[in-house]
Amino acid sequence: MSKPLIVEHLTKSYGPGSLAVDDVSFEVKQGEFVAIIGPSGAGKSTILRCINRMVEPSDGRILFEGNDISHVQGKKLRDARRRIGMIFQHYNLVYRLTVMQNVMHGRLGYMSTMDGILNRYKEEDKEKALKLLNKVGLLEYMYKRASELSGGQKQRVGIVRALMQEPSLLLCDEPIASLDPNSSKVIMDLIYELTKEWNISCIVNLHQVHVAKEYATRIIGIRQGKLVFDGPPSELTNVMIEEIYNTSMENLMINGEVRAVG
Ligand SMILES: Nc1ncnc2c1ncn2[C@@H]1O[C@H](COP(=O)(O)OP(=O)(O)OP(=O)(O)O)[C@@H](O)[C@H]1O
Ligand SMILES: [Mg+2]
Repeated sequence: MSKPLIVEHLTKSYGPGSLAVDDVSFEVKQGEFVAIIGPSGAGKSTILRCINRMVEPSDGRILFEGNDISHVQGKKLRDARRRIGMIFQHYNLVYRLTVMQNVMHGRLGYMSTMDGILNRYKEEDKEKALKLLNKVGLLEYMYKRASELSGGQKQRVGIVRALMQEPSLLLCDEPIASLDPNSSKVIMDLIYELTKEWNISCIVNLHQVHVAKEYATRIIGIRQGKLVFDGPPSELTNVMIEEIYNTSMENLMINGEVRAVG
């Protein structure tokens, strides 16, 4: 199986004396579904942001589809970024625009600036958007303003927008942290099913350990910037969870589920 993403000795310091990410290495295979867990401030978001270069790595390398993208700029960075979809905790939609307009923004990386400004989208892209909106149950909402949607609906728009990029890698930073349990399940099921269907590799930052165990084929544990666990859910024992979160299981349990806040 090919490896579209190789992270080698990734290190990020936001300032002197503190390492947000400390010598982290891992690889992601095509179509793999990886969850990153760890306490608040462990460096999970920083890792995702370094991969898509929203944050500049201080050291180490990011190899994406065979290219070192650690420090690329301009066209090379844009080319890499359009193949890396991103889903955020707070959705990052343009709320004054409609659902359809938000979704079509996923195509901007493939268009000239002028075509983008004038909303000159290809027919085939619009058809694809409609198919995807139908798939996530939002077709009838296509002309609604994004601001009028519920949290779960907003995140479904975020998923469709990311998929419109035709990504080979999807990065999800706490995609369900602002949602109730029912919406969370809908969102996780959609992310899981759509990435499987399109053979997209997926990395999801999560603070619910039980969700990570339920969906991921592989879990990465981060503590104070360091990778302390990398393995299948079956190997993520309670002792290991306690080590990642540096606290006892008792403190991590809410209603019988491991809901480590992080
Ligand atoms: N833009 C920034 N400038 C300075 N320090 C930052 C910045 N972003 C993050 N940090 C610091 O880097 C460390 C890792 O933060 P990061 O947001 O990656 O953690 P996280 O695991 O995603 O946490 P959470 O679960 O709370 O989202 C923290 O100590 C944080 O304070
Ligand atoms: Mg975070």
